[in-house]
Amino acid sequence: METIQGHLYDYPKYYDLIFGSDWKAEFDFLEDIFEKHTNRVVERLFEPACGTGRLLIKFAQAGYTVAGNDLNPKAIAYCNARLERNQYAPTAVVGDMTDFTVTKKFDAAFNTINSFRHIDSEKGAVGHLKCVADSLYKGGIYILGLHLTPTVGPPIQSESWSAQKGALCVNSHMWSIDLDLKKRNEHLGMTFDIYTPKKQFRLEDRMDYRTYTAKQFSSLLNKVPEFETLEIYDFSYEIDDPVTINETSEDVVYILRKR
Ligand SMILES: C[S@@+](CC[C@H](N)C(=O)[O-])C[C@H]1O[C@@H](n2cnc3c(N)ncnc32)[C@H](O)[C@@H]1O
Repeated sequence: METIQGHLYDYPKYYDLIFGSDWKAEFDFLEDIFEKHTNRVVERLFEPACGTGRLLIKFAQAGYTVAGNDLNPKAIAYCNARLERNQYAPTAVVGDMTDFTVTKKFDAAFNTINSFRHIDSEKGAVGHLKCVADSLYKGGIYILGLHLTPTVGPPIQSESWSAQKGALCVNSHMWSIDLDLKKRNEHLGMTFDIYTPKKQFRLEDRMDYRTYTAKQFSSLLNKVPEFETLEIYDFSYEIDDPVTINETSEDVVYILRKR
């Protein structure tokens, strides 16, 4: 099979298939959070690092007003084209989630699958949280999902999954190449085997994520008094089953409220 070195984010169609297929669990959980953790009617939603907008399109179709930003112009073009195709305004913009402003505030923002960890410095992470806080109404919430590095117990080393839509099929594999807790960097390898009726190829990608132990994340939040932590969940997305963070915690979702 032909192998291409590249970034999955530059292939929005394949990205969207891989990450878009199980949108419903996230969508339902986010709506549960809006209902449980806000006193306001949630109408306006913002997604920093929205990528292809796999969730934004679903929220637009459910009647919300949506917008987002992302560094990758190909993902933004894909996101806006789909919004327009479905008669919605093309409200995603190319932008950096560590440094942005919005013209009208939002009721809620979300960032569910580790995108936040692409920010490679503490300064950037603080900047991001402050920008999100500035983009929310008072009482608005930010739903932030990320993978914490456990300090007790074995971390997850690799994951594989597959997705199919019509004649397009992608098999993905992701593994940790290097975890440098001093430099706060996790280097990941990924392969995506892509099968279409006309071609088959392997895309080989590398990604870097900043690492956070529970303590480091808590220390980061202390630098952003604009937010208070309301509750924490895990990736089982059980609205009636919030979790308590400890040294073994890994996939978690923080619910932050703008003061
Ligand atoms: C795992 S994808 C998630 C996309 C989308 N949130 C989703 O749930 O499908 C991570 C995204 O973060 C974007 N990204 C990375 N660094 C960024 C930054 N500093 N500002 C904005 N977007 C960024 C990438 O381009 C990519 O689209």
